[in-house]
Amino acid sequence: MIHIQIPATSANLGAGFDALGLALTYYNYVDMEESDRLEITSDDDQIIPTDETNLIYISAKDLFNVCGRELKGLRLHQTNNIPMARGLGSSSACIIAGLLGANTMLGDPLSLDELVNMAAQIEGHPDNTAPALLGGIVTAVFNGKKVEWVKQEVRTRLKFVAIIPDYELKTEAARAALPKEVAHKDAVFNLSRAALFSASLLTGKYENLRTAVQDRLHQPYRLELMPHAKEVFDIAYTHGAYAVYVSGAGPTVMAIVDEDNSFFTGKMEFSMEAAGIYGWKVRELEIDNQGAKIG
Ligand code: HSE
Repeated sequence: MIHIQIPATSANLGAGFDALGLALTYYNYVDMEESDRLEITSDDDQIIPTDETNLIYISAKDLFNVCGRELKGLRLHQTNNIPMARGLGSSSACIIAGLLGANTMLGDPLSLDELVNMAAQIEGHPDNTAPALLGGIVTAVFNGKKVEWVKQEVRTRLKFVAIIPDYELKTEAARAALPKEVAHKDAVFNLSRAALFSASLLTGKYENLRTAVQDRLHQPYRLELMPHAKEVFDIAYTHGAYAVYVSGAGPTVMAIVDEDNSFFTGKMEFSMEAAGIYGWKVRELEIDNQGAKIG
C-alpha cells in the first residue's frame, strides 16, 4: 500500500492569476494500491465519488495510459481534510495523489517536470497543482502543454489564516464570472503587483503585501459571488493582517498575518460573530515547503 500526503494550496495570491500559488500545512492523505477492481473508501464525512469519475483514479489511469500500461482497478482510501470547492486546492490534491501514486507503482517512469506538466494539463492551470506537488511558493507559466516553473522555499514569520465559509463556490462558476477581455491599464496593474508579491514575501518586505494582493482580473468579480466576504476582508484588516485576498477561485478568504499577532484568530471569530457572520471556520496555517510526499 502506498501512503501519500498532499498539502492544500492557495492560488493566485491576489494579483498572480493562474501563475502564483503556495502550499499550506493542511493535508489530505491517500492510501493506494493496484487491484483488479475499483474500490474507494474514505474515513470522513465529505462525499466523494466512489466510481470511475473519482479524480484520483482518473489521474492515476491517465498516467498509466501515458506509460502504455492499463490500470484495471485501484484500492483507494481517502482522508479528506481539505474542504472541497473552497479555493484550497482539493481537486489538485486529488490529481497529485493519483499521479504520484501511479508513478510510484510503475517505478517512477515520469520525471518531476513531466508530473508538473501532466497535472496542469488535467487541471487546466498550474497554480494549485504545481505547489501541491512541489511545496513552497511556485511561479508557473503554462503554455497549454508545458509548464515553466520555479519553486522557492519560504522561511517566514507569517501565518496564513484561512477564513473558510460554510458555502461552496465551484471553480467553473467562479471562472465563468470573469470578463473575456481586460483593459491594458488593468493588465499592468496586475502584473506589477504579482511581481511585487513574490519579491516582498521572499525578502521580508511584508508592508508591501497589502498593495501586492490588489487585483483587477478576478477578485472584484468573485467577491460578488461570496456573501459576507467583503466584510471579512475589512475585519481582517482591522485586526492587523498584512494582506487579505481571495484564495484561488474562492470562497475562502486568506489573511496573511505576522506570527506576533497572536490573538488574530480569536479576534476574527469574535468579530465575525458580532457582525452576524456565522458558520465560517478560521484555520491558522503555515507555508509547507516540502510538497506532496510518499510514505
Ligand atoms: N487560478 C485558478 C482560478 C485557481 O483562479 O480560477 C482556482 O483553481
